[in-house]
Amino acid sequence: MSATLITDIGELTTNVGVPGDPCGTLRDAAILIEGGRIAWVGRAVDLPPIAGVAETTSAGRDGGKPPHRRPTDVATRSGSVVEVVDAGGRAVIPGFVDSHTHLVFGGDRADEFEARMTGTPYAAGGIRRTVAATRAASDDELRRRLKRFVAELHAQGTTTFEIKTGYGLTVRDEARLARLAAEATPEVTFLGAHVVPAEYADDRDEYVELVCGRMLHDCAPHARWIDVFCERGAFTPDESRRILAAGIAHGLLPRVHGNQLGPGEGVRLAVGLGAASVDHCTYLDDGDVAALAGSETVATLLPGVEFSTRQPYPDARRLIDAGVNVALASDCNPGSSFTSSMPLMIALAVREMGMTPAEAVWSATAGGARALRRDDVGVIAPGTRADLVLLDAPTRVHLAYRPGVPLVAGVWKDGLPL
Ligand code: NIG
Ligand code: FE
Repeated sequence: MSATLITDIGELTTNVGVPGDPCGTLRDAAILIEGGRIAWVGRAVDLPPIAGVAETTSAGRDGGKPPHRRPTDVATRSGSVVEVVDAGGRAVIPGFVDSHTHLVFGGDRADEFEARMTGTPYAAGGIRRTVAATRAASDDELRRRLKRFVAELHAQGTTTFEIKTGYGLTVRDEARLARLAAEATPEVTFLGAHVVPAEYADDRDEYVELVCGRMLHDCAPHARWIDVFCERGAFTPDESRRILAAGIAHGLLPRVHGNQLGPGEGVRLAVGLGAASVDHCTYLDDGDVAALAGSETVATLLPGVEFSTRQPYPDARRLIDAGVNVALASDCNPGSSFTSSMPLMIALAVREMGMTPAEAVWSATAGGARALRRDDVGVIAPGTRADLVLLDAPTRVHLAYRPGVPLVAGVWKDGLPL
């Protein structure tokens, strides 16, 4: 079994929280990885003696030049060779968990973005343009684009991500988007209820019927989650409730797009159903905040949307102070937020939404994991997946302090460098 020891970590974010430090920060830390999982984590001085022979690699510090290697005296207890990575005093965090993306689609809507920047407001109807382009794209084309997005995510430190359908909106197209998404991630969400497609404009009931029936039936085998865009211009609370109930009856777990474009019932619907997450949460009243605070439902904030649509940002401070679990995600999609950058979400959350850098990093890692009901990612503890990011920075604070700067120096997914 291969093993890796990462030493000389100046600041390690474990997310094994202690009072006053939800990030569970360790200084001068080390991590031992075996079989893709965390075998040991702690302060380097406490590392148990490991006898044997191996090599040292200085990862990613020489701008892609061959790593520096020298003999050392480290091996695992089972006797297998250990690769030693010297973090050089830099920071390590868990891989980002992006719990909300729409990465399988065709076409481009740069023209819409350009018009927005000169005053045209964002509207849910733009989704239909991407639906037309997605229906026209072949499986191979969609697969090729998806691979590029996944490479983009990995390069920016995202090691776990969710993908929604929602740009097919026929039984055949939704099922193929679900199937393609499942090739890239186990976290697939059926979003047949993204918007009512043009051909059902005069008979929304029939479309809701289709989503709850044949479309759900064909998509459910590829999906873990069901989602609804509960918003004016998309689906009403009653329609949303009906669709989510059908998904739950099919074994899918609910999550909701809610309170994005204005106040509404999305949050309370999600909380009432015990949804893992309600996403956007831009327009909340006190009752919404109280409902979230008394629940297990995560409020997933998507600041890329407000950045790209010039809407007001959600008030993360108010949610956190009320005791709500907050996640940050990219919502990467061609309409409202065409960015896959979790570091950008952190910078926006700190600069615009009242989060501390520590809260923002927690929300982009452990918070995302909670929004996906995953306990094997987002945390660095014995037994969790070795999904890690080495930052070219002494502290995670640089993710907000140095916005726009590529700080990801190394990424490990299941213990293997990406
Ligand atoms: O999460 N809110 C609904 N869906 C996407 C937008 C999709 C689009 O405009 O294409 C979102 O913002
Ligand atoms: Fe979305």
